[in-house]
Amino acid sequence: MIRLERLTKTYGALTAVDAVDMTVGAGEVCVLLGPSGCGKTTTMRMINRLVTPTSGKIFIDGKDTSSTDEVQLRRSIGYVIQQIGLFPNKTIEDNICVVPDLLGWDRAKSRKRAAELLDLVNLNPGIFLKRYPKQLSGGQQQRVGVIRALAADPPVLLMDEPFGAIDPINREVIQDEFMKLQASLKKTVVFVSHDIDEAVKMANRIAIFRDGKLVQCDTPDTILAHPLNAFVADFVGSDRALKRLRLMSVANVMQADCPTLKAGDSFERAAKLAEEHDLDGLPVVDDEGHPIGMLRFEIARGRNGHIAEHLESLPASVRTSSDVRTAVSLMFANAVTWLACVDESGKLKGYITQRAITNSLSLATGHGK
Ligand SMILES: Nc1ncnc2c1ncn2[C@@H]1O[C@H](COP(=O)(O)OP(=O)(O)OP(=O)(O)O)[C@@H](O)[C@H]1O
Ligand SMILES: [Mg+2]
Repeated sequence: MIRLERLTKTYGALTAVDAVDMTVGAGEVCVLLGPSGCGKTTTMRMINRLVTPTSGKIFIDGKDTSSTDEVQLRRSIGYVIQQIGLFPNKTIEDNICVVPDLLGWDRAKSRKRAAELLDLVNLNPGIFLKRYPKQLSGGQQQRVGVIRALAADPPVLLMDEPFGAIDPINREVIQDEFMKLQASLKKTVVFVSHDIDEAVKMANRIAIFRDGKLVQCDTPDTILAHPLNAFVADFVGSDRALKRLRLMSVANVMQADCPTLKAGDSFERAAKLAEEHDLDGLPVVDDEGHPIGMLRFEIARGRNGHIAEHLESLPASVRTSSDVRTAVSLMFANAVTWLACVDESGKLKGYITQRAITNSLSLATGHGK
């Protein structure tokens, strides 16, 4: 969808962007990441030609952008700038409709769209359409900055640290909102960030820059598992194994064909399961499959009768839809080596062990190293 070919920008003796080759697939979010001054913004601004390349080419949908009319090009690319940049003398509604108005869209249609977009980011149109930017909080302004870039429904979005100006808690919220939007809109997004956690969360691919050069461009998991050199390893941080846990879902790591014990089962059955499974206990479920407790196997050994009187409460369970970091956190907090995994309705779906997590981390990520 977007292809950069030997893209270069020099300012006098400084090479701000140095022969960058990169491809961003349709519907992908590619995060440009790197220290201040490494050329992220310059690269991004060459894509919509706010900066003219010194040499090299940019193709969008196979078409060389140097042969496209610049104004046309810019209107087909949504752009969220670092400083939000809402027009202070225009209402939120008119701010959102800037590009549709420039494109000569029907007024009623664009105003209807403005209301829909506000709704999408949880801002009540009845309250916010007629307000001015200074009457909004920083986070609310950033939401408007994002939906303004979406107003004319461009296939490509450039976002330059779009959530940089908000506190960490609201940043998580707005990131989640954006991910939800992106899941349905599937725009091709180039996103600049300083923040490795944000990049890992949002990106299909991360492009790491240093001194104008593209050092490594890979999936977040590959970047974290196999940083190409010491610079990338340093940049992503020494806790990169922990960061990878966020990318794994409990559903993918858990043991799914979990044998279940019921309160009426015999100790004999429990002891047999203990042999088959390398756990110190197993969850016990009711007739609907909801966990009602656990049985520790050391209690089962050598006993007769039923397990009902020897149930203990489950220290914790984790949702199958959670990420593995959440599971690890629960394991540490409860000093256990395995957790029961439940679905949205609370039914037991499997169990996850520390060993399975370690194994998943060491599995090859397809990078060939
Ligand atoms: N118009 C300009 N004239 C001269 N030098 C420039 C110009 N624009 C950018 N530069 C230089 O090019 C280099 C890359 O700048 P750029 O804005 O792309 O960095 P960045 O990676 O976006 O940094 P930050 O994370 O701080 O936003 C910097 O050294 C900057 O000083
Ligand atoms: Mg920048």
